[in-house]
Amino acid sequence: MPARPLRLGVNIDHVATIRNARGGRHPDPVRAALAAVAAGADGITAHLREDRRHISDDDIARLAREVDRPLNLEMAATEEMLAIALRHRPHAACLVPEKREERTTEGGLDVKGMAPALAPFVARLGAAGIRVSLFVEPDPAQLEAAKRLGAPVVELHVGAYCEAEGAARTAQLGRIVAAARAAETLGLECHAGHGLGFDSVGAVAAIPQVVELNIGHFLIGEAIFGGLDSSIKRMRALMDRARAAGTGQASA
Ligand code: PXP
Repeated sequence: MPARPLRLGVNIDHVATIRNARGGRHPDPVRAALAAVAAGADGITAHLREDRRHISDDDIARLAREVDRPLNLEMAATEEMLAIALRHRPHAACLVPEKREERTTEGGLDVKGMAPALAPFVARLGAAGIRVSLFVEPDPAQLEAAKRLGAPVVELHVGAYCEAEGAARTAQLGRIVAAARAAETLGLECHAGHGLGFDSVGAVAAIPQVVELNIGHFLIGEAIFGGLDSSIKRMRALMDRARAAGTGQASA
């Protein structure tokens, strides 16, 4: 069977982090988004955080207006973020947990424990035609809860796998493989993201049920050394090679 296409969503948050370090306009995350598309990104991902530490409201407005690829808005389940999503109508909204004190999104959403609080956000985004995804740990109980809420997509948090070494890494990969299979059984579209780099992307890209990867920090960091175009093209090539190898279609 031919491999399902694997999309790459490039997260441009940390272009805004660098811009904000000086408070000016350079480097512009929208310019980075356009460069990412030119380098092979299928979509652009941006996280508008409550404290606006990187992406700004104006960045979201410009990304929605100026980039002709699907925009995936990562957001906390708050009324403020919901209003922004409904105003700009991105292609997708990925609900993520958010704590002001964390440096990055440190774990998945507790969909099981927070189902009543999340339900109206899933429903209102969905009713507006926005594809809702829930960022969860690779845990079958969370996937079942996502299904019960009516979310069409889950994004598996693969950060623990990316950080682990040796046997622990193998065990973490096993959790992701099992969760991706469980997502398919439940009829959920399966994405993955967080912490992916050149050394970790292949194993995740090879999982046939995973159809989208969202990658940011590593790509922007690597761009310092070889440029954004080169870092994205290399990531894309590693993804595509692993994907083809995973289905026995790798060319020699
Ligand atoms: N997916 C989600 C839901 C995220 O919250 C993040 C980080 O903002 C990413 C993907 C990208 O993670 P990274 O920047 O580590 O590649």
